[in-house]
Amino acid sequence: MEGTFSNRSFKSLLVLLALNSYIYFSSAGRQIAPQTGTEFIKTSCSSTTYPKLCFDSLSTHASLIQTSPQLLAYAALNVTLSTAKSTSTMMVALSNSQGLKPREMEAMQDCVEELSDTIDELRNSIREMGHIKGSNFGLMINDIQTWVSAALTDESTCSDGFQGNNLNGNVKAAVRTKIVTIAHLTSNALALVNNYASLHG
Ligand SMILES: *[C@@H]1O[C@H](CO)[C@@H](O)[C@H](O)[C@H]1NC(C)=O
Repeated sequence: MEGTFSNRSFKSLLVLLALNSYIYFSSAGRQIAPQTGTEFIKTSCSSTTYPKLCFDSLSTHASLIQTSPQLLAYAALNVTLSTAKSTSTMMVALSNSQGLKPREMEAMQDCVEELSDTIDELRNSIREMGHIKGSNFGLMINDIQTWVSAALTDESTCSDGFQGNNLNGNVKAAVRTKIVTIAHLTSNALALVNNYASLHG
């Protein structure tokens, strides 16, 4: 009985020792330990124009991204697309609401049009990102860079339409905030695409 007990204690002791040395060696090796997904995202985002937005929008996808520059750019495009889609839905609802002046209605409809182009361009980029291969890398990444830049131009055309003084203040502010966020997400996605491209250059 006692023998069994000591045997168990001995085994527990071994486990404890093994665990301790594991913890010891892994903390000693921290400097050369591989980066985690979250650290990788933070480092990569620091080279974008809006690092906080970049990190906040992508860190929830850390387990998918891990330390892949391609998956990071891919995820950034995904996040931008879904934000553009939800904003477009909101704007369609707003443009159908009562009480908009003709001038506001027109700005809203133009913007919905430009957002729809943005959505197409982001969709094309995402599709291409999923098919990128060594042999056609240069051509495909070039297409992606062109589409994402075009999306950025469409977004700024949209927010320009909301600059006039004869627009309702609340509507204007709500729309501009959304569009500016999309433009910042797009700018970050482009920086991450460019970063991914430069690694293959
Ligand atoms: C991007 O979105 C697609 C479709 O929703 C999904 O299948 C894919 O896993 C996403 N990729 C990344 C890297 O977020």
